[in-house]
Amino acid sequence: MTDSEREARIYHMVERFYELGDQDPVLAPVFAAIPDRPGHFRIVADFWSHALYGTGRYQGSPFPVHMRIDFPFEAFERWLVAFEQAVSEVLTPMEAEIALQRARHMTQSFKVGLFPFQTADGTPSRHLQRRS
Ligand code: HEM
Repeated sequence: MTDSEREARIYHMVERFYELGDQDPVLAPVFAAIPDRPGHFRIVADFWSHALYGTGRYQGSPFPVHMRIDFPFEAFERWLVAFEQAVSEVLTPMEAEIALQRARHMTQSFKVGLFPFQTADGTPSRHLQRRS
């Protein structure tokens, strides 16, 4: 397997992930707001290239990027379902397993970091609720 085959496969997985996300009613409106899709796909593919193979292609910080995006808490589970399907369809079994483990871990950190509060009924929230 050459590096370019590997990178092409990772990019294709990202395209497939967004194709699946576009079919999901919770993720679709969030993804529709991404201004430059090919540019974004490149960044996300570089992230996974680095996560799987330590290529150094991605040097950013995903957390602050997600602080700026508005999405409901239930988006996390939808995101993981689409991601699991995309990686199992496109990546090798070993890559898929590592990517999924990483994604589950990051989802957990994002949940805690981005939704630190709770509404009165216990639903995770991004905002501190005012008590009356
Ligand atoms: C509810 C779950 C998630 C949603 C709705 C979501 C949505 C988005 C959106 C809309 C962007 C583009 C932001 C922009 O360019 O302004 C983005 C960027 C990104 N997302 Fe997510 N995301 C989620 C979870 C995750 C997870 C779990 C990971 C990794 C495991 C991840 C990795 C990334 C990366 C690497 C970028 C690019 C960051 C950069 O520009 O440096 N996302 N996400």
